[in-house]
Amino acid sequence: MSSKLSTFICQNCGTETSQYFGKCLNCNSWNSIVEEIKSKSSTYKGIKSSKKAIPFHEISSQKISRFTTGFKEFDRVLGGGIVPGSVVLLGGEPGIGKSTIVLQSAGKISLNEKVLYVTAEESLEQVKIRWERLNQNSIDLKIFAETNLSLIIEEIKRVNPSFAIIDSVQAIHNHEMESSPGSVSQVRACSSELQNLAKNNNIALLVIGHVTKDGALAGPKTLEHLVDVVINFEGDNISSHRLLRGIKNRFGSTFEIGIFEMLEEGLREINNPSSIFTNKENISGVTTTITNEGTRPFAVDIQALVNKSFYSNPRRTTTGISINRLHQILAVIEKHVGIKLSEFDCYVATGGGFEINDPSSDLGVAISIISSLKNIPPVGSSSFIGELGLSGQVRKSNNLRTKIEEAARLGIKNIVVPRLEEDLNNFKNLINIKEISNIKEAVNYALLQ
Ligand code: TYD
Ligand code: MG
Repeated sequence: MSSKLSTFICQNCGTETSQYFGKCLNCNSWNSIVEEIKSKSSTYKGIKSSKKAIPFHEISSQKISRFTTGFKEFDRVLGGGIVPGSVVLLGGEPGIGKSTIVLQSAGKISLNEKVLYVTAEESLEQVKIRWERLNQNSIDLKIFAETNLSLIIEEIKRVNPSFAIIDSVQAIHNHEMESSPGSVSQVRACSSELQNLAKNNNIALLVIGHVTKDGALAGPKTLEHLVDVVINFEGDNISSHRLLRGIKNRFGSTFEIGIFEMLEEGLREINNPSSIFTNKENISGVTTTITNEGTRPFAVDIQALVNKSFYSNPRRTTTGISINRLHQILAVIEKHVGIKLSEFDCYVATGGGFEINDPSSDLGVAISIISSLKNIPPVGSSSFIGELGLSGQVRKSNNLRTKIEEAARLGIKNIVVPRLEEDLNNFKNLINIKEISNIKEAVNYALLQ
């Protein structure tokens, strides 16, 4: 016997309530609550299992054997490849290239493993057209076009692949539920069934989910805790660069980044990313910083434009760094370098719009701003690393050694770093290291020599 149960779910954050509200009580978004019908079994069936708890020493400590996606950049974000039996959620805006990257990977993986690609959004013919564009030479990749979850699960069981792809979770539906495909309860129910399938049959599963910029269709957000690995595919539709960003990883380090370029014949990985975010010219308003994203250092340019303002409130905009960070850096410059900036507009952008979260980029931002204001290029071939403290001191940076190595590898001649007790002598024959304690010292060195 089963009874129908109505519940109200916020499509933005997944909060469930028993009645309708115009505004979600949890995330405060408006008009995001939708009524959904759940089927609930009215009889409780006890579960018997032969499984027992065991002590640690009885667990065999085999190393996880992973299989490669065919892309080094993709493997790194996954923590070294795909783990059998794991579930990976690949999120991203529509049109960013999710289907393309997984189809390319599926082609490569299927040279060694049995792979099934389930397309719920596109027809077999559409996938074939894409496939031909991507120049794949695998003949064993199996494709299945279906949206009904039960049929998908049956087919996955029948084919019994090592790796299966669901493109996408919003397009499939569990026909026992009345809510429409893409709603939070459908997405959740389908994912947990797929999760069970993966774990019970040791099939690695990659599930694609669309996430829009404003989070309107944020079904996949509510799945993040269900799956083993969450990866976002990012980029804008203007430039051809695409970033794979690790958000969660049970089998490796998070916040790894993989960089790709979208070409006519699909995605190409970029193994030397520093080259695309920097420009070697020495001009005023531009500095280079080395930032750490995941385990890898990247060189990224920081550009600033400071102009006399004609507004009562001067304009401040940023691309790639947070606006609050810019306000804080401007305040530190005013107070500790003694430059009045309240009458100037200030625009800051990172090379290629690369999003920098590492606070050690502060010093590069500050020097770019002062360099633009004074119209003096910073000292030639240099790179700046250090977080700015509110009292004007330059604070130490994580992974400074790997950053210095990356700068030296790129042929940068001078690197300005926070003064440390650490011994940096090993690097001194690779690059000229200038240690500074505060912003004023950095300005004197970089701009006023
Ligand atoms: P797609 O993988 O369909 O995006 P998603 O699955 O995330 O919605 O990618 C669609 C875009 O990528 C589309 O604008 C066309 C472009 N593209 C290329 O530039 N080169 C290619 O080889 C392919 C297959 C797509
Ligand atoms: Mg797609």
